[in-house]
Amino acid sequence: MAGEYPNQYATPLFEAIINYAKGRKVSFHTPGHKHGVSIPQEFRNFVGEKIFDCDLTLLEEVDSLHDPRGVIKEAQRLAAKAYGADYAFFLLNGTSGGNHAMILTVCDPGDKIIIPRNTHRSVLAGVVLSGTTPVYVMPERDEAMNMLLNVTPEAISQAIREHPDAKAVLVTHPTYEGIGADVKEIGRRAHEAGMFFLVDEAHGPHLKFHRDLPVSAMDAGADICVQSSHKIISSLTQTSLLLARRTVDVLKLKRILSLLMTTSPSYILMASLDLARMQMATRGRELLSVAIMLAEDARQRINQIQGLSCFGKEIEKKCGANQLDVTKLCVRVAELGLTGYQVAQELNRKHKIQVEYADLDKILLIISIGNTERDVRRLLAALEAIARNAPKAPRGQRNHLRFPERLPEVVMSPRAAVFSTTRKVPLKEAVGKISAEVFSPYPPGIPLLNPGERISAEILGYLRDMLQRGGRIQGQSDPTLRTIKIVEQAAEQKESGPATLENQVKKRFPREPNKIETEKVGADDEKNAIGKL
Ligand SMILES: Cc1ncc(COP(=O)(O)O)c(C=O)c1O
Repeated sequence: MAGEYPNQYATPLFEAIINYAKGRKVSFHTPGHKHGVSIPQEFRNFVGEKIFDCDLTLLEEVDSLHDPRGVIKEAQRLAAKAYGADYAFFLLNGTSGGNHAMILTVCDPGDKIIIPRNTHRSVLAGVVLSGTTPVYVMPERDEAMNMLLNVTPEAISQAIREHPDAKAVLVTHPTYEGIGADVKEIGRRAHEAGMFFLVDEAHGPHLKFHRDLPVSAMDAGADICVQSSHKIISSLTQTSLLLARRTVDVLKLKRILSLLMTTSPSYILMASLDLARMQMATRGRELLSVAIMLAEDARQRINQIQGLSCFGKEIEKKCGANQLDVTKLCVRVAELGLTGYQVAQELNRKHKIQVEYADLDKILLIISIGNTERDVRRLLAALEAIARNAPKAPRGQRNHLRFPERLPEVVMSPRAAVFSTTRKVPLKEAVGKISAEVFSPYPPGIPLLNPGERISAEILGYLRDMLQRGGRIQGQSDPTLRTIKIVEQAAEQKESGPATLENQVKKRFPREPNKIETEKVGADDEKNAIGKL
């Protein structure tokens, strides 16, 4: 099979699926809809018939994702080649699943990992699943724009110096807003210290294919990176790619991926990855040139609209902004006297334009190879109309608060906190307690509190003010912030078993624990108490 698909125009998995569909075999296997026959008519009317022929299961002709030997193996080999990696793996749980796998592969329980404080929550989930201890690095901040930039090599070096025993350095490159890190230098420093270099490249599956975009993680020497192909290039939602080098234990990586992945991967989704790779490898430069031109043109015109501003390449002079992905348009709207939420709502309801995200003072727009000149014209006309009618605000007006400078005290690992016994308490009772959940205000997107960290009055005050100003706080279980989940009993204590009488009684009589004395009991008291049962 190897070599049967010698060039990047081939789409082995997609071709195998089409051939299988053409064969019109009778199905006595999953999926239950049998080539779409039993799919409700309403669904078929809207999407057509053919898509259901592509919805297959593990069959010899279309290979198996968990043990690829045929067309999936070939499709992954072509993807690895296109991206300059030694291995590529199709992911159907997005970059979230890839981040979990990446961390679980290089870190064992108890290991340290250096990560940015504003890392995506899937990285934190990887930390929880693997039982690693995070060492946080603060990204640079641009106060005027109320925006996070990226982490610097210097900040990473400091973390390496303070934690030379860390197993890996992980960075996000580029950020949601398109701000790249100096990945070549950070990778060099991580490797010099004997650590793995991992990159969450969720927003970078296109980087490899155009020289006017930031350097890709693989080209910068990453050991593993994960990309959300579905976010930026043309594969379907949920599909991502994990790329790796021989420097990692690839057998372990495969075992971990298999552990995390569904045993019923969608062939429609996998085919879309095969095709998206082909499209990028064969026409990426040409398609991305158009997207870049559209974005640069839009940026220039947005900057001519009074009250709006959109940073460009000049941001690369700032510390923590190594390279900009110019296809992201991060538009500051605060000088219009409106919040980003208001502008986004008007764009949506009045002009039928959806943005990627909005916050207190800006909106983010993604231009991809799927956008056209017409889209950009509509966007500009809508923004001009909104700006014309906006109340306007004095220049430099800020809707945002100053983020607390100090990170909270870390009392236990995120894993210990997440698996602890928790209790909800009213806000005013939470000071001094240990948080069992994440509180991440947006903007700026840095978690104020992670599980296992001490809750302070300063942090609670910031969270309250943020909510009052219409900001959003993500991650916590009570959106109104009236209550907070705190750690009542740490996981280690739970895991250490029923050492105390209290624990033994709770375990044996779970519904009537308060019938006995549960204050501190010595050995003699324990005997007496047992006698009472
Ligand atoms: C930086 C970053 N990493 C990872 C993810 C998760 O990606 P996915 O939605 O593909 O699981 C996101 C999603 O927004 C992200 O922004």
